[in-house]
Amino acid sequence: METLLVLLLWAAACSAYPLDRAAKEEDASMDLAQQYLENYYNLAKDVKQFARRRDSGPVVKKIQEMQKFLGLEVTGKLDSNTLEVMAKPRCGVPDVGQFATFPGEPKWWKTHLTYRIVNYTLDLPRKVVDSAIEKALRVWEAVTPLTFSRLDEGEADIMILFAVRGHGDFFPFDGPGNTLAHAYPPGRGFKGDAHFDDDEQWTEDKSGINIFLVAAHELGHSLGLSHSRDAEALMFPVYNPSTDLAHFRLSQDDVAGIQSLYGPPTVSPEEPTLPTERPPAGPETPAMCDPELSFDAVSTLRGEKLFFKDRHFWRISYQIPEPEFHLISSFWPSLPSGVDAAYEVTSKDTVFIFKGNQFWAIRGNEAQAGYPKDIHTLGFPSTVRKIDAAISDAEKKKTYFFVEDKYWRFDEQKQSMEPGFPRQTADDFPGVDPKVDAVLEAFGFLYFFSGPSQLEFDPNAKQVTRALKSNSWFNC
Ligand SMILES: *[C@@H]1O[C@H](CO)[C@@H](O)[C@H](O)[C@H]1NC(C)=O
Ligand SMILES: [Zn+2]
Ligand SMILES: [Zn+2]
Repeated sequence: METLLVLLLWAAACSAYPLDRAAKEEDASMDLAQQYLENYYNLAKDVKQFARRRDSGPVVKKIQEMQKFLGLEVTGKLDSNTLEVMAKPRCGVPDVGQFATFPGEPKWWKTHLTYRIVNYTLDLPRKVVDSAIEKALRVWEAVTPLTFSRLDEGEADIMILFAVRGHGDFFPFDGPGNTLAHAYPPGRGFKGDAHFDDDEQWTEDKSGINIFLVAAHELGHSLGLSHSRDAEALMFPVYNPSTDLAHFRLSQDDVAGIQSLYGPPTVSPEEPTLPTERPPAGPETPAMCDPELSFDAVSTLRGEKLFFKDRHFWRISYQIPEPEFHLISSFWPSLPSGVDAAYEVTSKDTVFIFKGNQFWAIRGNEAQAGYPKDIHTLGFPSTVRKIDAAISDAEKKKTYFFVEDKYWRFDEQKQSMEPGFPRQTADDFPGVDPKVDAVLEAFGFLYFFSGPSQLEFDPNAKQVTRALKSNSWFNC
């Protein structure tokens, strides 16, 4: 390992005057160690000379943490074994601490994901990159209900790109060696994206850095996995060139990790309309194209539309035009079934869900702490026992609550019920059936659901513009 270090440091040492070679090597390995612990183990950045700090409490603790994580002898010292591992190529995602300050375990809360290869390395023909990425996605597809499709343009869930040095995300790459790639946990925007350091020599085999192996690892991050301490796992942070590519398999640790987020693959060839998880069959499972279908509540959530019915909900979005059908409990175990009303406050990225005299708050797939709360904390009189429907006007920051034949208006900025309410729904929404099950806002219209029918209401003209079936959103 002495030779390895010397080789690695040779370039640096030779470009300077080789006055005191041993001292230069020492400096370079201290720089490496400092960067390693700062980048991957959250060591506080400190300009004070690292060589002098290396026996200080905080640094020793970080060295121990790293040794423990990577399965080295825990000495707390920068011994040759430790320095050797620090010099190995690896993933840029930290082993402790995260890119994101997101609490909890982020995951996709849909099972069909899109990806796009934004640009390519010149090291390989495009076809080779395409098939390596595809093969890497299949590794995860095989053990989960997840499916992937490729986009050639526009915004995909997982954007894949090759870049050198600074590339716009505050995590610049570091030239050849060391950091090979990094990826972000699930979410919107740059979340879920995977970036590859184009200063590496990417290869289809193992003569350089194998593109498939790194892609499979990074896409594990894109799906929500962090690093594993299991040296056999694909999610181990250090690149392992001795992996058997011809018989590549995920380790048990990888499979357990990803299935803890998404469950095992679905074995459901007989239900083509339900492409994702299969809810338990039973007489109460509603059919989405039943002309008598009604909804308990309808809400938007981050650009998607959710239609609640008993224990289930359907979701549709621009990306998922075919409705997906899920158990409410599979996304939000703490929510009840048979909800009364739901609405999204986009400025808070929160959906509020009502049942009886209680309401819950969810953000993405996370139920928020401190709920359920009592609806009377919103300012309803004690005579109100439940809410029938609710909708929030993002522009005016007002929320409308429909209760029997009346409605209340809540000021989201002041967080209080407005004076002068309740008012008669029929007075302000002429033509709307005062028995409202759910309300949805879309394309500047309000959609009032009542049993199996739905009225489209133009709030500017203050009139009903169309009558539709409640399930008109489902392409039946
Ligand atoms: C790929 O796109 C990223 C982001 O726009 C850019 O930083 C990078 O230089 C591009 N890489 C190549 C190989 O064109
Ligand atoms: Zn990684
Ligand atoms: Zn990046």
